[in-house]
Amino acid sequence: MKIVSVVGTRPNFMKIAALVDELKKHKEIEHLLVHTGQHYDTGMSKFFFDDLRLPKPDINLEVGSGSHDEQKAKITQKLKKVLGKEKPDLVIVVGDVNSTVAGAEAAKELGIKVAHVEAGLRSFDNTMPEEINRIETDKIGDFLFTTEESGNKNLLNEGIGKDRIFFVGNVMIDTLLKHKERASESKVLEKLDVEKHNYCALTLHRPSNVDKKEDFENILYILDKIQEKIKIVFSVHPRTKKSIEAFNFDDKIKNMKNLIMTEPLGYFDFLHIMANSKFILTDSGGIQEEATILYVPCITLRKNTERPVTVDQGTNLLVSVDKEKVVEKSFEIINNEIEVNDKIPELWDGKAAERIVKIILKRFKK
Ligand code: UD1
Ligand code: UDP
Repeated sequence: MKIVSVVGTRPNFMKIAALVDELKKHKEIEHLLVHTGQHYDTGMSKFFFDDLRLPKPDINLEVGSGSHDEQKAKITQKLKKVLGKEKPDLVIVVGDVNSTVAGAEAAKELGIKVAHVEAGLRSFDNTMPEEINRIETDKIGDFLFTTEESGNKNLLNEGIGKDRIFFVGNVMIDTLLKHKERASESKVLEKLDVEKHNYCALTLHRPSNVDKKEDFENILYILDKIQEKIKIVFSVHPRTKKSIEAFNFDDKIKNMKNLIMTEPLGYFDFLHIMANSKFILTDSGGIQEEATILYVPCITLRKNTERPVTVDQGTNLLVSVDKEKVVEKSFEIINNEIEVNDKIPELWDGKAAERIVKIILKRFKK
């Protein structure tokens, strides 16, 4: 059996790593890894291949950055050539980025079956490009592997048949559990001069927070207040870096003496940063889930989440982007005034990839 997996952005690499490890165990499977090139900086791509010991991609489509339409069209076009030549039985795509939907569409156009890992999540916010990507990918996926109960419900509500839905758990959590020990050896806290449980870990990259000057200024207000109380470690995403430059925020940021900016960090370093933080402030999808497993309070700087289990059972606090509310909640955490949930969502047990590969093998043996 031949499988092609398609990845392209930072969060894709953590997700596919668990599957690559599992697929390797089955000699009857030939597996090819395609990198679309959507993310290409060393800190957004190579770091993860190194940390997670991912094999070098068999093929890199090198599509680079561009408008969504342009990027998706380039991926589909180039990938179709690869798939036409390789003729796999199945294409695996993960997450909700442009590489995900374009990978699924390329396969479907050639009549190749598609597995979507992390299916069914919905923010019900169609202004997010990811929401469109999720819906489109699930429409055409033959195997929809879900991470939480809300995903199953959402798919059923969209009229998708039960026979396509498989509740398997979370491959990103497989990877975290596998590497947590190793990450604890990181020396990044010393490097950044922060003390355990005495800083906030921050990431930002949603267009709704960083693409418009007034939205980003709203966030800067929040950061300014927080950094008066506690250090902030800010791993700056390239989209965010571009906005900081475009909006001339350098001086404002320099004035925040407790705001420590870093280039994007490798997986082990960032995991260590999250695990030892007092709390996490983020608009990332995956980090909401990782915070839950690490039992670290997480304030999500968004109005909605496609991952409700992290709020209902995990440590995620969906506070919106109302600046006063976010500051208030942050201060409560800093002053030890709140307790967060400490449940582990169902099937987030490190075995999602094993379940996925088992299901795939069973179906293809039929
Ligand atoms: C993409 C995903 C988003 C995901 C995020 C993970 C889509 C629509 N968005 O957002 O869902 O949460 O990745 O990090 O697929 N850039 C670089 N170097 C790189 C990559 C990007 O400088 O290696 C810059 C480019 O200027 C580019 C911009 O960042 O235009 C945005 O990159 P893009 O991949 O389009 O979207 P992300 O914001 O990274
Ligand atoms: N991450 C990382 N280094 C960083 C910031 C994030 O390794 O400097 C990891 C993080 O632990 C998680 C993934 O990147 O595994 C999340 O990616 P991102 O926030 O870019 O994408 P999203 O999950 O929002 O799609």
